[in-house]
Amino acid sequence: MAEFHPVAKKSEIPEGGAICVTVEGKSVALFNLGGEIYALADECTHEEGPLSEGEIEGDEVECPWHMARFNIKTGKVLCEPACEDVATYPVRVVGDDVEVAV
Ligand code: FES
Repeated sequence: MAEFHPVAKKSEIPEGGAICVTVEGKSVALFNLGGEIYALADECTHEEGPLSEGEIEGDEVECPWHMARFNIKTGKVLCEPACEDVATYPVRVVGDDVEVAV
């Protein structure tokens, strides 16, 4: 079973925003939606654009490179040019520490 790793402070992730962290060599985008933290692979499934730098609208993020959209909570792809879902990772918050399992 994947182990949780402390990767960031919750207070570092602005509400409605995202940051990128590296966990076990993987780039992971951490999103703060209304105080809940979600983790997605920080690589768009089209050509690996950085989703942590994308525009966030509600529960969705738009890839900054060619505007594919994904659901932040589920990783589901919502529009082309990407056609595969993006990986999601389990997150837990312990005090102010955000921990991710990859
Ligand atoms: S890399 Fe994300 S839409 Fe192309």
